[in-house]
Amino acid sequence: MQNGFIQIYQRNADAICGELTAGLLASSAWISPKYLYDGLGSRLFAAICELPEYYPTRTEALIVEHYRSDIARSTGRGMTLIDLGAGNCEKAARLFPEIQPAHYVPIDISIDFLRESVESLRHRFPQVRMTGLGMDFSHSLDLPEAVPSQKRLFFYPGSSIGNFTPEEAVAFLGRMRDACRADGGLLIGVDLVKREDLLQDAYDDAIGLTAAFNLNLLQHLNHLLKADFRPRDWRHVSRFNARESRIELHLEARREVRVAWEGGSRHFAQGERIHTENSYKYTPERFLQMLERAGFGRVSRWIDPHGWFMLCHARAG
Ligand code: TRP
Repeated sequence: MQNGFIQIYQRNADAICGELTAGLLASSAWISPKYLYDGLGSRLFAAICELPEYYPTRTEALIVEHYRSDIARSTGRGMTLIDLGAGNCEKAARLFPEIQPAHYVPIDISIDFLRESVESLRHRFPQVRMTGLGMDFSHSLDLPEAVPSQKRLFFYPGSSIGNFTPEEAVAFLGRMRDACRADGGLLIGVDLVKREDLLQDAYDDAIGLTAAFNLNLLQHLNHLLKADFRPRDWRHVSRFNARESRIELHLEARREVRVAWEGGSRHFAQGERIHTENSYKYTPERFLQMLERAGFGRVSRWIDPHGWFMLCHARAG
């Protein structure tokens, strides 16, 4: 088949229910940020990327625009471009004219959204072979046989790597490294340490899109778990944890709340929180060390003039 869509992520209700219940019942409740991305969540995130406060997307796009021929020279052309968390595929599409992938493999957990995004991309770039993969790549990067093993270029933009703890991030980078042969590599975007007010605004925008995105998680949980969360009982909280160099996102109970779902129930006191995401901010030096620890070879890097964001190409061999 020239073009296709492969769905590996079967909504395995038991596994999902187990993972979510464990987080909701933990002494400090937490939910993995991958559950932010249902159909509406993916659309809200695409809208966040257009906000004036959310500098990562446009800064990364500026870097790509400014250095596109250097980037393509570094990555090589005709690669199998494997886009992790592709969403609307816009970030990868911006690279197509320059890096001319032979095969594009967008992967996302938000399956229906991805399917639609790939469909419209096929019309814009009919010459690029595309295989969409509906898959949760957070636990394993075992790719189906339809994905060639030579000349793999993993693409992990938007500083999603910052959503792992530094130790998890090194392990995840290592899995990407191991999924490449010596002719492969990784093109990755990393958000850098910067003034705290800029970070705060990026994760708590004036018109409340980020709040809506975070609160939508509760509606997704209602759907997945048959839970009875009322989004009005909760508010979006973001704070910068300087010691850990990360933005933390939480949902905080506005009042005393009792929540029941298939598999459990819990009482939340007023002010009690569910931790929904971390977004680590790195210095270039620290991140380059992490790439090295993960087993990557030579790295080329590009940074915007403000020093806000870094794009790296790390060679596997
Ligand atoms: N990967 C994005 C980031 O860390 C995701 C994100 C942006 C996000 N804004 C958010 C996640 C708000 C939860 C809430 O920048």
